Amino acid sequence: MAAELGHLARAAAAILCLLIFHVAPADSLAKARVSGGTGTCISRELDALLSFKEGLLDPTGRLSSWHGVDCCQWHGVRCSSRTGHVIKLNLRNTYTDNYYNYMLNSLSLSRDEMSSSLAALQKLRYLDLSGNDFNGTSIPVFVGSLENLRYLNLSLSSFSGRIPSQLGNLSNLQYLDIGSDFFNEVKVMDLAWLSRLSMLSHVVLRGVDLPAVRNWFHMVNMLASLKALRLVNCGLTNTVAATSVSISNLTHLEVLDLSFNSFNTSLEHSWFWDLTSLKELYLSSCYWHGSIPKQLGNMTNLQVMDFDQNDLVGLIPSNLENLCNLKVLDFSRNNISASIGEFMDRLPRCSWSTIQILSMDETNMIGKLPIWIGNMTSLSVLSASGNMITGTVPLGVGALGNLTSLDLGYNKIDGVLRKEHFSGLLNLEYLDLWENSLHMDIEPNWGPPFRLKVLRLKSCTVGPRFPEWLRWQTDIDSLALQDAKLDDVIPDWFWVTFSRAGYLDASGNMLRGSLPANLQHMSANMLSLVSNNLTGQVPRLFPINITDIYLSSNYFSGSLPSELEAPLLGGLLLADNQITGTIPSSMCQLTSLMRLDLSGNKLTGDVMQCWKESDNNSSAFGANSADQFGSYMGTLALNNNDLSGEFPKFLQRASQLMFLDLSHNRFFGTLPMWLPEKMPRLEILRVRSNIFSGHIPKNLTFLGNLHYLDMAYNNISGSIPWSLSNLDAMVNIRHRLLQPLLEESMPVIIKGQTREYTFQSYNLLVNLDLSCNSLTGQIPEEISLLIGLTGLNLSGNQLIGKIPNKIGDLKRLESLDLSYNELSGEIPSSLSALTSLSHLNLSYNNLSGPVPSGQQLQILDNLNYTYIGNPDLCGYPLSKNCSASTTDVKQSLGHEDADHISYLYLGMGIGFVVGLWVVFCTMLLRRTWVIAYFQVIDKLYDEAYVRVVITWARLMKKTHDDAA
Ligand SMILES: *[C@@H]1O[C@H](CO)[C@@H](O)[C@H](O)[C@H]1NC(C)=O
Ligand SMILES: *[C@@H]1O[C@H](CO)[C@@H](O)[C@H](O)[C@H]1NC(C)=O
Ligand SMILES: *[C@@H]1O[C@H](CO)[C@@H](O)[C@H](O)[C@H]1NC(C)=O
Ligand SMILES: *[C@@H]1O[C@H](CO)[C@@H](O)[C@H](O)[C@H]1NC(C)=O
Repeated sequence: MAAELGHLARAAAAILCLLIFHVAPADSLAKARVSGGTGTCISRELDALLSFKEGLLDPTGRLSSWHGVDCCQWHGVRCSSRTGHVIKLNLRNTYTDNYYNYMLNSLSLSRDEMSSSLAALQKLRYLDLSGNDFNGTSIPVFVGSLENLRYLNLSLSSFSGRIPSQLGNLSNLQYLDIGSDFFNEVKVMDLAWLSRLSMLSHVVLRGVDLPAVRNWFHMVNMLASLKALRLVNCGLTNTVAATSVSISNLTHLEVLDLSFNSFNTSLEHSWFWDLTSLKELYLSSCYWHGSIPKQLGNMTNLQVMDFDQNDLVGLIPSNLENLCNLKVLDFSRNNISASIGEFMDRLPRCSWSTIQILSMDETNMIGKLPIWIGNMTSLSVLSASGNMITGTVPLGVGALGNLTSLDLGYNKIDGVLRKEHFSGLLNLEYLDLWENSLHMDIEPNWGPPFRLKVLRLKSCTVGPRFPEWLRWQTDIDSLALQDAKLDDVIPDWFWVTFSRAGYLDASGNMLRGSLPANLQHMSANMLSLVSNNLTGQVPRLFPINITDIYLSSNYFSGSLPSELEAPLLGGLLLADNQITGTIPSSMCQLTSLMRLDLSGNKLTGDVMQCWKESDNNSSAFGANSADQFGSYMGTLALNNNDLSGEFPKFLQRASQLMFLDLSHNRFFGTLPMWLPEKMPRLEILRVRSNIFSGHIPKNLTFLGNLHYLDMAYNNISGSIPWSLSNLDAMVNIRHRLLQPLLEESMPVIIKGQTREYTFQSYNLLVNLDLSCNSLTGQIPEEISLLIGLTGLNLSGNQLIGKIPNKIGDLKRLESLDLSYNELSGEIPSSLSALTSLSHLNLSYNNLSGPVPSGQQLQILDNLNYTYIGNPDLCGYPLSKNCSASTTDVKQSLGHEDADHISYLYLGMGIGFVVGLWVVFCTMLLRRTWVIAYFQVIDKLYDEAYVRVVITWARLMKKTHDDAA
């Protein structure tokens, strides 16, 4: 549930973010300002406007010019120079610079419904109330009385309920736009009113609930002047077959958009295939199956064909030779399952020189790119990522002088890329060859003809030398060179050339050398050099806007920087280096940290020192930043150092903490009673190999999400509280929520090898390890209630009594270790019910009687020492026969540490995500960058969500075009 909510929240945020940047095209800003007419205001209309204003909340004073007697001079109002009547009212929310401004400037209602005073503006021809928040009220009926209206835009303005049929009286209406894509709150039961509006040339209904209107086509078919029809996300389920329409009246239709309707009738024989007037056809996300229809062949005016995300199969038909006007073709996310060469061969020859955008991402294409690709002379975007394209990149690509974006990522392309492949790409800005087996063979002194903004070459062989030709690519904003076989010193110019880049990732190479001490001149939000051979100190000054800096698995040494001015830093990963010294107070002033990994270093001293010092430092400035430290922390790994002190008190503030690893240090004292209360979200707690003493806090059981608890190798005494059996997440494996923001499998690269901890596999780990402490008393019978456990280790304590009878209830157990205790009695026969068990150790106790039989117990991986050290046990696999009573020969086998489960890395990139939001939003203003950026994040984030975003970007683009 919460995961779903997370998704929804994200989608909503995305929508809002996009919405605000597209609701008002830039030119409307200009239009809105040119509002004054020349006539003087008619007093009846002035009163009407004032009374309308009175019913509005206008928190930022957008209507502050609405006073005085000349209403024709008011913001958004325009009068006829001839008659003096108000003819235009434009209250569109144009504050689109950012989300907050947009929300802030949105007009809303101060009363329960909108004032109907506007009905007095009988000469009104143009009414635009879009982008405001009319509190979910219904569309006011009075609008239907404004009989002179030509233009009516009520989109994105939080209207709900039914569209009043009175709108059918607007017999002069030419442009109608109602609805708001995602929130299907406006409903229509009957479209008869629409069919009466015979002058309509543009109809845009988005997110308007139409499923009740079975005859929608017949109603629309009355509108003989229609040029653009957009019924997007309207819940349409049926279209009309061409054969059942004797004559389609829509002979002027140029734009048809039926995206986001899940049709349950086939689109293959729909009426619109006969519309030779069509220039743009959008049918994305329509759940359309079947083959690509032959009828396309007669749509000779078609320029845009957007069939993104359906279930189309097979090749496009070969009879398209008359489609000579094609500009945009989007077949992405279908199941074409054909050879890309053949697919492209079917494109009409005459369109080779006209097609500008060709998208075939994730279409299950195989085969090679056609060698004639260089003949597509207008091509600006070529996108075929996520297929199984093989072969080499044709040299012809290098001739595509208009190409701005080339995305062939996630394919199986190989061969060598030479400078000839790029020689004519004067306009290339986005190059993505990510995850192919390409080898770049380019002379160091090559001067590329382009200036890239995004370069993604992960897993391509770019090295061993760091590519010198990148030196002058100073426009790069995003650089991805992971696993690029770079075996070189990071060149000095790297820090100059990429000083304006936002995203820099060269992890998984063999880069050498040290980093500059001062990186403050860099603009990077994200810098990752994980898993290289870097030496020297960690930079003293980080890029000022950095949200994520990942330097784990290198050879950094020396101390941590004593001053870190990185107020936005959300993720700091310095694991597995050779960093020495204490944790400086600078670290505790990083109040935005969500993820901190200092594990696997040589850090010493008391962690609390950091906090205390920063407390002192900051109180000198008045602000107590240390007080905030940890409040956003989701994961904290300090394990495998030489740290000491008591359980860090600053964690009292870490209410978001999900992962805490303090293992392999010298922490001492008791585990605090406040732990469950202050860290309620904790899922994984590792304090293994420290000197913690005292009892297991009984209230630990309030940690409802804790499913991994490792306290092994400490001095913990007392008994195992039976209340542990209430650890809900060890009982119920149903909803384990990890960061909903995370990519499912973020690889963690450790010294060359990539270890992937996927959401799923992590999800499956339910572990309780209390081994090697001084626990006494019996194993509580209730432990058998923790039925989610996959691992249970209580070995090396002083536990007495019997093994709980119901231990066999722990059906998911893969590993059970009760060795080196003083357990007695018989082994419960229920043990043989543990069908997942692969590791069992009961050695060195005082167990007696027969070893239970059972298939699983015969195939354990360690039968040699499973039972050893219990002289009174008998039966297979022991040599002692149960009827006899000879003592077993003691074998001496070392006590093995069964715990090989390594660190789990959570929370990666949260700061990065947050940081990039800003980038996304700003980038949306530029169309080409929308494409480029979403292609980047498409691979980084949850696909569905990104799809929503892309779709939105598109829809909004269309709104823009319509309005323009
Ligand atoms: C309409 O919404 C605004 C903003 O959310 C709110 O301030 C106002 O009170 C609402 N008006 C009514 C009548 O509920
Ligand atoms: C075409 O439109 C006219 C009115 O504009 C209407 O009478 C006629 O029925 C329409 N034709 C079809 C096939 O719907
Ligand atoms: C194209 O139109 C012609 C005549 O208008 C028709 O005979 C032919 O079947 C149409 N082709 C397709 C593929 O619909
Ligand atoms: C591609 O263009 C070149 C020159 O512009 C021409 O010689 C060649 O025949 C074209 N290839 C095809 C397959 O049309």
